[in-house]
Amino acid sequence: MFVSRKCIFHILVHAAALLPAALIVWDSTRGQLTANPIQEITLRTGKTTLVLLVLTLSCTPFRLITGIRAVLPLRRILGLYTFSYACLHFLIFVGLDYGFNLPLIFEEVLKKRFAIAGFAAFITLLPLVITSTRGWAKRLGGDWQRLHKLVYLTALLAVTHFTWQVKADFRLPLLYGIIIIFLLVIRLPQVRAKLDELTLPLRNLISAIGRHK
Ligand code: HEM
Repeated sequence: MFVSRKCIFHILVHAAALLPAALIVWDSTRGQLTANPIQEITLRTGKTTLVLLVLTLSCTPFRLITGIRAVLPLRRILGLYTFSYACLHFLIFVGLDYGFNLPLIFEEVLKKRFAIAGFAAFITLLPLVITSTRGWAKRLGGDWQRLHKLVYLTALLAVTHFTWQVKADFRLPLLYGIIIIFLLVIRLPQVRAKLDELTLPLRNLISAIGRHK
Protein backbone atom coordinates (compact mmCIF):
# COMPACT_ATOMS: atom_id res chain seq x y z
CA MET A 1 0.00 0.00 0.00
CA PHE A 2 1.35 3.45 -0.97
CA VAL A 3 1.22 6.10 1.75
CA SER A 4 2.08 9.59 0.51
CA ARG A 5 4.68 11.78 2.23
CA LYS A 6 1.92 14.31 2.95
CA CYS A 7 -0.09 11.61 4.73
CA ILE A 8 2.89 10.52 6.86
CA PHE A 9 3.60 14.17 7.72
CA HIS A 10 -0.01 14.68 8.84
CA ILE A 11 0.04 11.48 10.92
CA LEU A 12 3.21 12.74 12.66
CA VAL A 13 1.57 16.11 13.37
CA HIS A 14 -1.51 14.39 14.88
CA ALA A 15 0.73 12.11 16.96
CA ALA A 16 2.80 15.06 18.24
CA ALA A 17 -0.34 17.03 19.11
CA LEU A 18 -1.84 14.07 20.99
CA LEU A 19 1.38 13.32 22.87
CA PRO A 20 0.87 15.81 25.78
CA ALA A 21 -2.61 14.35 26.46
CA ALA A 22 -1.21 10.80 26.28
CA LEU A 23 1.56 11.78 28.72
CA ILE A 24 -1.00 13.17 31.18
CA VAL A 25 -2.94 9.87 31.05
CA TRP A 26 0.29 7.84 31.32
CA ASP A 27 1.61 9.88 34.27
CA SER A 28 -1.76 9.75 36.03
CA THR A 29 -1.89 5.94 35.84
CA ARG A 30 1.54 5.86 37.52
CA GLY A 31 0.65 8.51 40.12
CA GLN A 32 3.26 10.88 38.67
CA LEU A 33 1.21 14.06 38.52
CA THR A 34 2.83 15.71 41.59
CA ALA A 35 1.08 16.17 44.95
CA ASN A 36 -1.51 18.41 43.26
CA PRO A 37 -2.63 16.54 40.11
CA ILE A 38 -5.43 19.00 39.24
CA GLN A 39 -3.03 21.93 39.23
CA GLU A 40 -0.44 19.90 37.30
CA ILE A 41 -2.98 18.98 34.59
CA THR A 42 -4.19 22.61 34.44
CA LEU A 43 -0.63 23.85 33.96
CA ARG A 44 0.24 21.19 31.39
CA THR A 45 -2.91 21.70 29.30
CA GLY A 46 -2.48 25.50 29.54
CA LYS A 47 1.07 25.33 28.28
CA THR A 48 0.15 22.91 25.50
CA THR A 49 -2.67 25.23 24.38
CA LEU A 50 -0.23 28.13 24.18
CA VAL A 51 2.42 26.14 22.29
CA LEU A 52 -0.17 24.92 19.78
CA LEU A 53 -1.47 28.46 19.33
CA VAL A 54 2.05 29.69 18.60
CA LEU A 55 2.58 26.83 16.11
CA THR A 56 -0.74 27.66 14.41
CA LEU A 57 0.41 31.27 14.03
CA SER A 58 3.83 30.15 12.73
CA CYS A 59 2.52 28.34 9.62
CA THR A 60 1.97 31.47 7.49
CA PRO A 61 5.36 33.10 8.33
CA PHE A 62 7.04 29.74 7.67
CA ARG A 63 5.42 29.59 4.23
CA LEU A 64 6.41 33.23 3.57
CA ILE A 65 10.05 32.58 4.41
CA THR A 66 10.52 29.14 2.85
CA GLY A 67 7.84 29.10 0.16
CA ILE A 68 6.78 25.64 1.42
CA ARG A 69 3.00 25.60 1.01
CA ALA A 70 2.56 22.13 2.53
CA VAL A 71 2.42 23.71 6.01
CA LEU A 72 -0.70 25.75 5.26
CA PRO A 73 -3.26 22.93 5.82
CA LEU A 74 -1.66 22.48 9.26
CA ARG A 75 -3.17 25.79 10.41
CA ARG A 76 -6.60 24.17 10.64
CA ILE A 77 -5.37 20.96 12.29
CA LEU A 78 -3.24 22.83 14.84
CA GLY A 79 -6.01 25.36 15.44
CA LEU A 80 -8.47 22.57 16.26
CA TYR A 81 -5.98 20.94 18.63
CA THR A 82 -5.42 24.36 20.26
CA PHE A 83 -9.14 24.55 20.91
CA SER A 84 -9.32 20.94 22.18
CA TYR A 85 -6.57 21.55 24.74
CA ALA A 86 -8.14 24.91 25.70
CA CYS A 87 -11.44 23.04 26.34
CA LEU A 88 -9.65 20.47 28.47
CA HIS A 89 -7.84 23.24 30.37
CA PHE A 90 -11.09 25.16 30.89
CA LEU A 91 -13.10 22.03 31.82
CA ILE A 92 -10.54 21.09 34.48
CA PHE A 93 -10.87 24.57 35.95
CA VAL A 94 -14.70 24.60 35.95
CA GLY A 95 -15.21 20.89 36.60
CA LEU A 96 -12.42 19.55 38.81
CA ASP A 97 -11.48 22.82 40.52
CA TYR A 98 -15.00 24.23 41.02
CA GLY A 99 -17.35 21.24 40.55
CA PHE A 100 -19.33 23.09 37.82
CA ASN A 101 -20.62 25.51 40.46
CA LEU A 102 -21.39 28.28 37.95
CA PRO A 103 -22.10 31.17 40.38
CA LEU A 104 -18.85 30.40 42.24
CA ILE A 105 -16.89 30.09 38.96
CA PHE A 106 -18.29 33.43 37.80
CA GLU A 107 -17.35 35.04 41.11
CA GLU A 108 -13.83 33.56 40.99
CA VAL A 109 -13.20 34.50 37.35
CA LEU A 110 -14.19 38.10 38.06
CA LYS A 111 -11.89 38.21 41.10
CA LYS A 112 -8.79 37.06 39.21
CA ARG A 113 -7.56 39.15 36.31
CA PHE A 114 -5.57 36.21 34.86
CA ALA A 115 -8.79 34.16 34.71
CA ILE A 116 -10.64 37.01 32.94
CA ALA A 117 -7.88 37.13 30.28
CA GLY A 118 -7.94 33.30 29.94
CA PHE A 119 -11.70 33.25 29.66
CA ALA A 120 -11.62 36.03 27.04
CA ALA A 121 -8.98 34.08 25.07
CA PHE A 122 -11.19 31.00 25.20
CA ILE A 123 -14.27 32.94 24.03
CA THR A 124 -12.37 34.35 21.02
CA LEU A 125 -11.57 30.79 19.94
CA LEU A 126 -15.27 29.86 19.68
CA PRO A 127 -16.18 31.74 16.45
CA LEU A 128 -12.94 30.48 14.90
CA VAL A 129 -13.77 26.85 15.63
CA ILE A 130 -17.40 27.15 14.57
CA THR A 131 -16.39 28.66 11.20
CA SER A 132 -13.38 26.41 10.66
CA THR A 133 -15.17 24.19 8.10
CA ARG A 134 -14.93 24.58 4.31
CA GLY A 135 -18.67 25.30 4.18
CA TRP A 136 -18.32 28.30 6.48
CA ALA A 137 -15.22 29.54 4.62
CA LYS A 138 -17.25 29.48 1.37
CA ARG A 139 -20.32 31.08 2.92
CA LEU A 140 -18.36 33.93 4.52
CA GLY A 141 -16.02 34.60 1.56
CA GLY A 142 -13.65 37.51 2.32
CA ASP A 143 -15.22 37.96 5.75
CA TRP A 144 -13.83 34.56 6.74
CA GLN A 145 -10.25 35.85 6.43
CA ARG A 146 -11.16 38.96 8.42
CA LEU A 147 -12.90 36.93 11.14
CA HIS A 148 -9.96 34.57 11.48
CA LYS A 149 -7.69 37.51 12.28
CA LEU A 150 -9.35 37.19 15.69
CA VAL A 151 -6.70 34.57 16.43
CA TYR A 152 -4.22 37.45 16.87
CA LEU A 153 -6.34 38.75 19.75
CA THR A 154 -6.55 35.20 21.15
CA ALA A 155 -2.75 35.03 21.19
CA LEU A 156 -2.37 38.40 22.94
CA LEU A 157 -5.01 37.48 25.54
CA ALA A 158 -3.43 34.05 26.07
CA VAL A 159 0.00 35.51 26.76
CA THR A 160 -1.55 38.14 29.07
CA HIS A 161 -3.31 35.30 30.93
CA PHE A 162 -0.01 33.44 31.24
CA THR A 163 1.87 36.55 32.43
CA TRP A 164 -0.77 37.42 35.04
CA GLN A 165 -0.90 33.92 36.51
CA VAL A 166 2.87 33.73 36.98
CA LYS A 167 3.98 34.72 40.45
CA ALA A 168 7.73 35.27 40.23
CA ASP A 169 9.67 34.14 37.17
CA PHE A 170 8.44 36.10 34.14
CA ARG A 171 11.05 34.80 31.68
CA LEU A 172 8.79 32.25 29.98
CA PRO A 173 5.76 34.53 29.54
CA LEU A 174 8.17 37.18 28.22
CA LEU A 175 9.62 34.71 25.72
CA TYR A 176 6.12 33.72 24.51
CA GLY A 177 5.19 37.42 24.35
CA ILE A 178 8.21 38.19 22.15
CA ILE A 179 7.50 35.22 19.86
CA ILE A 180 3.84 36.22 19.49
CA ILE A 181 4.66 39.89 18.81
CA PHE A 182 7.21 38.75 16.20
CA LEU A 183 4.64 36.47 14.53
CA LEU A 184 2.14 39.34 14.39
CA VAL A 185 4.57 42.05 13.25
CA ILE A 186 5.82 39.83 10.43
CA ARG A 187 2.29 39.98 8.96
CA LEU A 188 2.25 43.77 8.60
CA PRO A 189 2.25 44.59 4.84
CA GLN A 190 5.49 46.66 4.90
CA VAL A 191 7.35 44.06 7.01
CA ARG A 192 5.96 41.27 4.85
CA ALA A 193 7.14 42.95 1.65
CA LYS A 194 10.66 43.46 3.07
CA LEU A 195 10.78 39.87 4.31
CA ASP A 196 9.62 38.65 0.92
CA GLU A 197 12.53 40.48 -0.72
CA LEU A 198 15.12 39.30 1.84
CA THR A 199 14.08 35.63 1.77
CA LEU A 200 13.79 35.30 -2.03
CA PRO A 201 17.23 33.59 -2.36
CA LEU A 202 16.21 31.04 0.31
CA ARG A 203 12.90 30.30 -1.44
CA ASN A 204 14.70 29.91 -4.79
CA LEU A 205 17.20 27.51 -3.20
CA ILE A 206 14.45 25.41 -1.60
CA SER A 207 12.48 25.26 -4.85
CA ALA A 208 15.65 24.26 -6.78
CA ILE A 209 16.31 21.45 -4.28
CA GLY A 210 12.65 20.37 -4.65
CA ARG A 211 12.98 20.22 -8.48
CA HIS A 212 16.16 18.10 -8.30
CA LYS A 213 14.58 15.41 -6.11
C1 HEM B 1 -6.81 30.04 24.93
C2 HEM B 1 -7.06 29.91 26.21
C3 HEM B 1 -6.04 29.67 27.28
C4 HEM B 1 -4.66 29.51 27.20
C5 HEM B 1 -3.76 29.55 25.97
C6 HEM B 1 -4.18 29.29 28.54
C7 HEM B 1 -2.85 29.10 28.88
C8 HEM B 1 -2.37 28.93 30.16
C9 HEM B 1 -0.99 28.83 30.52
C10 HEM B 1 0.17 28.88 29.53
C11 HEM B 1 -0.93 28.63 31.85
C12 HEM B 1 0.35 28.51 32.68
C13 HEM B 1 0.97 27.17 32.59
C14 HEM B 1 2.25 27.08 33.41
O1 HEM B 1 2.55 27.98 34.19
O2 HEM B 1 2.96 26.07 33.24
C15 HEM B 1 -2.28 28.63 32.36
C16 HEM B 1 -2.62 28.44 33.68
C17 HEM B 1 -3.91 28.47 34.17
N1 HEM B 1 -5.04 28.78 33.43
FE1 HEM B 1 -5.14 29.06 31.45
N2 HEM B 1 -5.24 29.30 29.41
C18 HEM B 1 -6.39 29.56 28.68
C19 HEM B 1 -7.67 29.66 29.16
C20 HEM B 1 -8.01 29.54 30.48
C21 HEM B 1 -9.36 29.65 31.00
C22 HEM B 1 -10.60 29.90 30.16
C23 HEM B 1 -9.28 29.46 32.34
C24 HEM B 1 -10.40 29.50 33.34
C25 HEM B 1 -11.13 30.56 33.49
C26 HEM B 1 -7.91 29.22 32.69
C27 HEM B 1 -7.43 28.97 33.96
C28 HEM B 1 -6.11 28.71 34.30
C29 HEM B 1 -5.66 28.34 35.62
C30 HEM B 1 -6.54 28.13 36.85
C31 HEM B 1 -4.27 28.19 35.54
C32 HEM B 1 -3.31 27.72 36.62
C33 HEM B 1 -3.03 28.75 37.63
C34 HEM B 1 -2.16 28.15 38.73
O3 HEM B 1 -2.46 27.04 39.17
O4 HEM B 1 -1.17 28.79 39.10
N3 HEM B 1 -7.16 29.28 31.53
N4 HEM B 1 -3.13 28.81 31.32
